[in-house]
Amino acid sequence: MSNLNREADKRETFSSGLAVFFATLSSAVGLGNIWKFPYMVGENGGGAFILIYLVCVFLVGMPVAISEFFIGRKTRSNAVDAFEKLKPGSSWKFVGYLGGITSFFVMLFYSTVGGWVYRYTFKALSMDFKSVGSMSIEDASLFVSSEFGNVVSSPVAPILWQIAFTGVVALIIFAGVKNGIEKVTKTLMPVLLVLIVLCAARSLTLEGAREGIDFLFTADFSAITPGVLLAALGLAFFKLSLGMGTMITYGSYFTKDNNMSATSAKVAISDIAVSMLAGLAIFPVVFTFGLEPGEGPGLLFNTIPLVFSRIPFGNVLIVAFFLLASIAATTAMTSMMAVPVSILNEKFKLNKGLSVLIVAGIVSAIGALTVHPSSLLGHIQLFGKSFFDLYDFLASNIFMPVGGLLTVVFVGWFVKKVLLFDELSNGGTVKNQAYLKAYGFLVKFVTPLLLIFIFLSSIGILSM
Ligand code: PHE
Repeated sequence: MSNLNREADKRETFSSGLAVFFATLSSAVGLGNIWKFPYMVGENGGGAFILIYLVCVFLVGMPVAISEFFIGRKTRSNAVDAFEKLKPGSSWKFVGYLGGITSFFVMLFYSTVGGWVYRYTFKALSMDFKSVGSMSIEDASLFVSSEFGNVVSSPVAPILWQIAFTGVVALIIFAGVKNGIEKVTKTLMPVLLVLIVLCAARSLTLEGAREGIDFLFTADFSAITPGVLLAALGLAFFKLSLGMGTMITYGSYFTKDNNMSATSAKVAISDIAVSMLAGLAIFPVVFTFGLEPGEGPGLLFNTIPLVFSRIPFGNVLIVAFFLLASIAATTAMTSMMAVPVSILNEKFKLNKGLSVLIVAGIVSAIGALTVHPSSLLGHIQLFGKSFFDLYDFLASNIFMPVGGLLTVVFVGWFVKKVLLFDELSNGGTVKNQAYLKAYGFLVKFVTPLLLIFIFLSSIGILSM
């Protein structure tokens, strides 16, 4: 044990509260906001889905986030050693291993989409969408959707873009906590926020804006099924990067004076704001151009080139948009890769370069073999799903919620209350501890029960 503690003291941390906020936000904000949130809202009926999603964020997501921050900062360790330090010799460390494994499933499909986003940045740079501005509405939407089809299914390119994306992430991790993660996120997150506001503002002045807004804010509860509940819960986990050790790992780099429940609230609220802005940027376009809101993963790629084609300087702004989407995707994936790399590096004592290489190598190799339509095994369907959908489903709907459930049960029932509150209140110095009291109740009863309830109903054991 003393060895573990000595290592914890040598560990790098972020340098300030602001750095903590931006790094955590950079993990939360990613393809989830600009790619997944809009298409899931589209597929699951709009406003009602958003309401349920918000409930999941506040009653389930935030308590899980705070619990992970606690585990990480208290122990200043990777996800496996963290559980080991809090309950030496127990099986809880397998929750840490489960997180490491889950991160691979997420990285596999995330890096695929990350590769598409990189590809689109280069397309925008080489003015591939320049002609869209002068096309009729029908021609323009046909053109962008066939572009997307080409990007996804061409034989070799998407594999190379995925590897490039994974390589950039590997380099940031290799550069370290302060010089890599902190520098990149502190510089780029504010720019991303400005750009998304600009994009939403333009969209809101399109003809279809009214319909887009109605779609986002009108709740039709008849669309809610147990499957939709599970999807909203999965999205809340995915969005806040929970249930797979990411927030334990980042929490282990937090400064000791950080008010962690406030950080979780700030991050959750900013993250929701970015998702809503993305929705406001995308749905007016969907309705103006007569696209299908439930068209799935291609939604982002089929709408954004259309908005920018109707904006002065759109050719320049679209480059900026995809560049920033690339950044959001890159920094979010950085937080995923940090989980298994820190386990290999600290628990298995492999050097850092080798740990990064192993993780990035596995993601690239399995990705190249399975996730693309043109991959060697890309045509195979398991349980009626492509590998791409299967990885996403397993990670977001099964492993992350299970990891989250185990984490809150651990913190709520197996960690001494005094220890928990001492850490969360920074030794009693944090002002306004009302939320902490509510947290104590949520983490013990409400969050685990909700998680179990949603699970059981989604697999048909409980009927609603
Ligand atoms: N939260 C990120 C997003 O929305 C995805 C993510 C999941 C990041 C899990 C880290 C861990 O894009």
